Amino acid sequence: MEDKSKKRKLFFALKILAIFALFSAIGYGGYAFYQTHNELQAVKQRSATEKTRSEAKISMLEKNIAAMETELGRKDAENTDLSQTLMSEKDKNTLFESQIQAIGGTVGKLTKLSQTDKELLQKYSKVYFLNEHYVPENLTVIDPKYVFEKNKTAQFHAKAYPYLVQMLEAATSTNPIQIISAYRSFGDQTLLKANYVVTYGSGANKFSADQGYSEHQLGTTMDLTTPTLGLAFIKFDGSDAYNWLTENAYRYGFILSYPKQNTYFQYEPWHWRFVGVDLAAKLHNNGQFFYDLPAREIDSYLISIF
Ligand code: DAL
Ligand code: ZN
Repeated sequence: MEDKSKKRKLFFALKILAIFALFSAIGYGGYAFYQTHNELQAVKQRSATEKTRSEAKISMLEKNIAAMETELGRKDAENTDLSQTLMSEKDKNTLFESQIQAIGGTVGKLTKLSQTDKELLQKYSKVYFLNEHYVPENLTVIDPKYVFEKNKTAQFHAKAYPYLVQMLEAATSTNPIQIISAYRSFGDQTLLKANYVVTYGSGANKFSADQGYSEHQLGTTMDLTTPTLGLAFIKFDGSDAYNWLTENAYRYGFILSYPKQNTYFQYEPWHWRFVGVDLAAKLHNNGQFFYDLPAREIDSYLISIF
């Protein structure tokens, strides 16, 4: 009996112990749960605070960016304004420069024109008179290789001479051309005409100008021949040299003064005059002759004669 009672007591004690252990475990579990829960809450709290702080920062940064963008936009607009101002200033400068250049060009042209001898593009041939004092501004001696009579000194207007040389050089290879007569002073023309009058009487007026009316006094005019024809230059018409000149002389500024059926003198295929490349080209291209053009039109080419 006693044993049974002991066992029961022991069992009871064990039960109590087990219940205590169970409650302890539950209590500890609850405590642990509570702790963990609190920690989680604290973490959540911290995260929420951190999130709020970050959001505040982001919002501040966004505001800064927006402010910077506004500033940038303003600066851009300012830059555009400045660029436009700069461009319009540049445009003004370009305009000024071109105006200055135009004025400079006009002054240059006027200076050149004032220094160019107006006599060079006058119509002579019984129309316009050069007095006995007129001599070209500068004469140069023509290289004897271009002159038919080697013992004669031929002279030409110094500024027109380079054009003459270029033309004669261009002709040399196929149609050599030589000079019979170039510059003739008022005195030379007086003597020449007097001699012709002795020989031909009033018939001389058909081919020889009176002194003062000859284009030869300008220094820009010459009579041409070929090495074969020589002094028989009256037969120059129809020669290869003449044909070459009719096709090419204008390129060097030379024209035929007295074509067939002109009203001034007989046809003079040997007599060529320098009038500048521009005017010679115009005459050539339009099939016109120098003496057909109004003096006013001829005058406008004086600026480009050299
Ligand atoms: N032989 C031409 C007409 C002159 O002397 O100008
Ligand atoms: Zn002549």
